[in-house]
Amino acid sequence: SPDAEPFLPRTPEERSDLDALRRAAAGCRGCGLYENATQTVFGDGAPGGRVMFVGEQPGDQEDRRGLPFVGPAGRVLDRALEEAGIERGDVYVTNAVKHFKFRRQGGGKRRIHEPPSADEMRACRPWLLAELRLLDPDVVVALGATAGRALLGSSFRVTRQRGRVLPFPGLDVLGTPAAGRQVADASPEPDGTRLVATIHPSAVLRADDRDAVYAGLVDDLKLVASALG
Ligand code: URA
Ligand code: SF4
Repeated sequence: SPDAEPFLPRTPEERSDLDALRRAAAGCRGCGLYENATQTVFGDGAPGGRVMFVGEQPGDQEDRRGLPFVGPAGRVLDRALEEAGIERGDVYVTNAVKHFKFRRQGGGKRRIHEPPSADEMRACRPWLLAELRLLDPDVVVALGATAGRALLGSSFRVTRQRGRVLPFPGLDVLGTPAAGRQVADASPEPDGTRLVATIHPSAVLRADDRDAVYAGLVDDLKLVASALG
C-alpha cells in the first residue's frame, strides 16, 4: 500500500536534519500524487519555531513555487497571525500531504484542488511525523478538517474541536482513533505539547460572511498565542 516510509532518510542523524529530510522528500514516490504535481512542497519556517501549523496540501501556487501557504490562503493566514500577535520567527508551516492533488478543467488550463484520500494521507504521514519529531513544537495547530483528521483520526470535527487548547496525542497514535480518545479523555490543562484546531484559512475566502469567519480564525490563533505564553 502507498507509504512514504521507504523514502525517508535511513539514519537518525539525517532524520534530525531538516535539510536532509527536505532533500529526501523531494524524491518521494510514496503515493501516486507525485506523478502529476510539479514538486514536493515540504514544510518551511523557523526551525526553532514553537508553533507548527499543519494545513491540508499545497495549492496551485504552492505547487509552482515549492513553498507552503504562499497563495491566497497563505495571505489570509499571514494577516491572521499578525493580528493574533504570533511572531513569524515562532512559526513553522507544513501540510498533511506534501503534493498538490488536482483535476484539470477548462481544456486543462485550470487546476482544481481535490481533497487527498485517506490512503494518501496515511502514505504521507511519515513526513509529518518526522517534522513533528524534529521540530518538537510547543503547540501544533490543525488548520481545517484534513489536518485535524491527519492528527486526531477520522472522528475529528472542526466545529466541535476548534477553539480549545487540547493535549497533543503521542506521535505513536497520531491519526488513529486512539489519538481522538486521548484528546477527549484528557484533563483541560495537561502538561506537554498542546494542540489547537481551527478552520482552514481558505474557508474565509469561500465564506459569505468573510469578516465573521476571519474573526473566528483570529480568535483561535489568539488562543495559540496565549498557550505559547
Ligand atoms: N492550503 C493548504 O492547506 N496548504 C497550503 O500550503 C496552501 C493552501
Ligand atoms: Fe510522497 Fe506524500 Fe508526495 Fe505521496 S503526497 S508522493 S507520500 S510526499
